[in-house]
Amino acid sequence: MMPADSPASRRTFLAASGMAAAHVWVPTGANGYTPEEMRERVSTTGISKWELDTPALCVDLDALEANIATMQSRLAAKGLGARPHAKTHKSADIARKQLAAGALGICTSKVSEAEALMAAGIDRICMTTTNPSASKVRRAMALSRTSPHFIHAVDDEKNARDLADAARDAKLTANVVIDVAVGTRSGIPAGEGAVALAETISRLPQLRLRGLLSYDGGAQHITGFATRRTTALKNIEANAAVFEALKRKGLPTEIFSGGGTGTYNIQHEVPGFTDVQVGSYLFMDMQYLAIGNAEGGVVYDDFQRSLTVLATVLNNRFPGRLTTDAGAKALTLNVPRAGVVGEPGMDYNAGSDEFGVITYKQATKSYAIGDKLELVVPHCDPVVNLYDQIYGIRKDRVEVVWPITARGKSQ
Ligand SMILES: Cc1ncc(COP(=O)(O)O)c(C=O)c1O
Repeated sequence: MMPADSPASRRTFLAASGMAAAHVWVPTGANGYTPEEMRERVSTTGISKWELDTPALCVDLDALEANIATMQSRLAAKGLGARPHAKTHKSADIARKQLAAGALGICTSKVSEAEALMAAGIDRICMTTTNPSASKVRRAMALSRTSPHFIHAVDDEKNARDLADAARDAKLTANVVIDVAVGTRSGIPAGEGAVALAETISRLPQLRLRGLLSYDGGAQHITGFATRRTTALKNIEANAAVFEALKRKGLPTEIFSGGGTGTYNIQHEVPGFTDVQVGSYLFMDMQYLAIGNAEGGVVYDDFQRSLTVLATVLNNRFPGRLTTDAGAKALTLNVPRAGVVGEPGMDYNAGSDEFGVITYKQATKSYAIGDKLELVVPHCDPVVNLYDQIYGIRKDRVEVVWPITARGKSQ
C-alpha cells in the first residue's frame, strides 16, 4: 500500500510509475487537493446542506457507512468477499472507507480511472475492462510497476501476449484474470476457448493468472427477486463450468469475481465464487430502488438511499409547475424519472439541458423562488461523474467535501 494520500506520496508515485503526466490527475494543493477544492472544503464544512449552491451532489454519511458495513457483513456471512466497483463513486476517499471495512480490493472500468485512484493512494485495483491498444497496455503496465497488487483483465490471446511483452520490458510479473462473458457485452465466451486462453496465459512466465471475472450486467436490475435469482444462476452456469475446468487442470482459480448490487445475495450459490463487485449499493438510485427485495417487497431496501442532488426552484409562477436548476447536466438520464424527496405527488422531468421541470397536482407545501428540493437520482454512476465534488452530510450538516477523484476519466 502506498503511504497516506499526500503530495509527497503522489510525487513518488508519479516518478515510480513513469506515466505520462497527461494521463494523470495531478493535484497541487495540501493533502492532495487542489487550491479550489481546499477552499471549498474549508468554506462549506459545518454549514447546513440547505445553504449549498446547487445543483449539489450530496451523500448522507450515516447511510453510506451503514451500507458499506451491511454489504461487508452480509457477504462475509455467505463466505464471500467484497471487491467494490469504483466506477460508481470514482472517489479515493470512499474507496478508502471500503478497504478499511475489509474489501479485498477495488475494481475500475477504465485505465484512466485506475491511474487517478492509484495516484490518490488506492493500490489494490482490479480492472474489469480489457486494455487492447498498445498505449493502454503501456499505461496499464505502468500501474503494475507502481503496485504489485494491480490486476489486468484479459479476454484475448494477442492482448495477453502484448501484456506479457510489456511485463518483460518492465521486468515484472503482472497479475491477470480472464474476463469470461456472461451474455454478450464483454469477455471471451464461456467455453473451451476461455479454458484455452487460461492455459496460454499460465504458460507465459511474465503473467500470473489469478482466476476469472464473470459479471452479469443483464441480471442486476431484473424486477422481482425470484426471477432475478433464477436468471442470474442460469446465466452463469457456463462460467461455473469454466471455473471447474480450470480447477481440474490445476490452473489458478483464487479469484472468481462478478455480480453487483442486484445479485449480491445470490452469488454465493455459484460454486467457487469468491467475491462480488458491488457498486450502487453505496448510494442506491431510482433504478435500483424499483427492483424489489428478497422478501417480496416492491422497494429494494436492503441498502439505504444515501445519494441526492440538491436543486433550487427558479420559477414558481405557473400553476402546478416548478422549474429548477437541475436538468440533464445534473442528473443525466430522464428514465426513470428523478424522485423528489418528501413529495410523492411530483413528477420530475430532467429532459432539458439546464432545467428540471416539476409538474404536480398535490405538494406538501408551496414553493418560493430560491427554495431547495432534494432529488433521488435516476442512475447513480453517470450522475457522480458529472460533479467535481461530493458533499458528505451528517444530520443535515456538511461534514466533509470529497473530490470525485476520477471524474471524467472515461478513457
Ligand atoms: C463489471 C462490473 N462489475 C460490477 C458493477 C457494479 O454493479 P452495481 O452498480 O450494479 O453494483 C458493474 C456496473 O455496471 C460492472 O460493469
